[in-house]
Amino acid sequence: MKPIRKAVFPVAGLGTRFLPATKAIPKEMLPVVDKPLIQYAVDEAREAGIEQMIFVTGRGKSAIEDHFDIAYELEATMSARGKDMSALEGTQLGPGNCAYVRQQEPLGLGHAIWCARDIVGDEPFAIFLPDEFMHGRPGCMKQMVDAYRGIGGNMISVLEVPKEKVSSYGVIAPGRTHGSLTEVTGLVEKPRVEDAPSNLIVSGRYILQPEVMRVLETQEAGAGGEIQLTDAMARMIGNQPFHAHVFDGERFDCGSKTGYLKANLALALERPDMKDTVRAFAADLLN
Ligand code: UTP
Repeated sequence: MKPIRKAVFPVAGLGTRFLPATKAIPKEMLPVVDKPLIQYAVDEAREAGIEQMIFVTGRGKSAIEDHFDIAYELEATMSARGKDMSALEGTQLGPGNCAYVRQQEPLGLGHAIWCARDIVGDEPFAIFLPDEFMHGRPGCMKQMVDAYRGIGGNMISVLEVPKEKVSSYGVIAPGRTHGSLTEVTGLVEKPRVEDAPSNLIVSGRYILQPEVMRVLETQEAGAGGEIQLTDAMARMIGNQPFHAHVFDGERFDCGSKTGYLKANLALALERPDMKDTVRAFAADLLN
């Protein structure tokens, strides 16, 4: 079984749910406490043993490239002034560890992934949606890669939501369950509540076989007029093993304003350098 060495980060979306903040700043650069969402995702990939990060970008996303580059002026000045540089650790990706490809129009997540086909090549790969902030130890992708080693095929991370919320997400039809894995027998993007096959939603982490690229080639627009990854994955069920992995940890939907606020609060309350101040402030505010 080939190891998972490459990860695709689709970051070309418009982030309309987070306007006006995302008019000039990519959604993926919004910080949770002091680290941008995209860096949490890259750190999660590294922890899972992934070596090459492939970013699918669009216009106005150059801050992401700058973030993972050398910041010569900043580094030279900080070092000359004897400042602590530890906060910059892990923020550089060398040429062998990253690649950028442009999605010229935001035609949908499925189309964004297809834009990376030449760099992905003929091997299984991971996908991270950086605005889905997965918080746990080990990280979500490490948990998935460990499970993948035993079973192969395609794997998606899922979580349970109240049934009335399923219409905003990709939803799975579940088959047999063994441990943290459930067979996926069907997939549907943004179903009506009454049509949803379960309340298990696809939650931003995927391990897919390279054949998905050929399926995406002929994928037509689906929900919202976008080329949906969920629709392409649905066409692969039956041809290749397909499992859902239930993440042991917490997930915050940082593409939404309330999810983003929750993530900031939760992480601040865990940080030794600020948790007491934040807790006292929050308690005061609520009183
Ligand atoms: P979202 O639907 O959450 O992102 O797509 P969005 O379109 O930027 O956000 P809203 O709904 O307008 O607020 C999930 C992920 O897929 C990427 C996004 O950048 C995000 O990481 N994406 C989406 C693309 O790269 N290209 C697309 O055409 C669509």
